[in-house]
Amino acid sequence: MKDKIVINGDVFVPMLTEEQIAVRTKEIAAQLSRDFEGKTPIFVGVLNGSFMFFSDVVRHFEGDCEVDFLKLSSYGEAKISSGSVTLLKDLNCSIDGRHLIIVEDIVDSGLSVKYILDLIKEHNPASVSVVSLLVKPKSMQYDLKIDYIGFSIPSEFVIGFGLDYAQKYRNLRAVYVLSEDEKNGK
Ligand code: IMP
Ligand code: MG
Repeated sequence: MKDKIVINGDVFVPMLTEEQIAVRTKEIAAQLSRDFEGKTPIFVGVLNGSFMFFSDVVRHFEGDCEVDFLKLSSYGEAKISSGSVTLLKDLNCSIDGRHLIIVEDIVDSGLSVKYILDLIKEHNPASVSVVSLLVKPKSMQYDLKIDYIGFSIPSEFVIGFGLDYAQKYRNLRAVYVLSEDEKNGK
């Protein structure tokens, strides 16, 4: 694992290792396997950020399941949310009467998840659960229940394991955060 990533002079350091992520992902997949036994849930990946976590969760899910994807508008080049969401790709499957498991990379303000839940509710699913690798509890602006949380983290900008900065760094195998020293100007 790289011990630092330098982006335009900003230094990012590891926050979660590949091993920590792998262990937690298997725990969540085991829990989902128990909770959805015999239910053939549809895993809904939220593109692009969740692709890596999504594939690991689904790979470790025991039992029948289906997969589909939603794509929402992204932050673009900015590090903070634009405050509005648009749907770039809708689901292709029928969700009436089905158990849905939404898989997110990170819940920050919660706007994206709120948007997805509102969208899906109109189509009568049997149940909707939300799984997120990361949650920033102090940033959440909506009263949402994230049913399965990989890690609760401080409200810092992070990259790697699917998460981008200006579309790059998604392929890092660990999660990196802007270094404290860097922020304190050291
Ligand atoms: P929310 O709608 O504010 O909860 O933001 C959710 C989306 O913003 C996530 O699915 C990510 O794609 C993106 N995002 C939020 N925080 C970060 C971050 O720290 N790094 C990279 N992307 C982020
Ligand atoms: Mg996302």
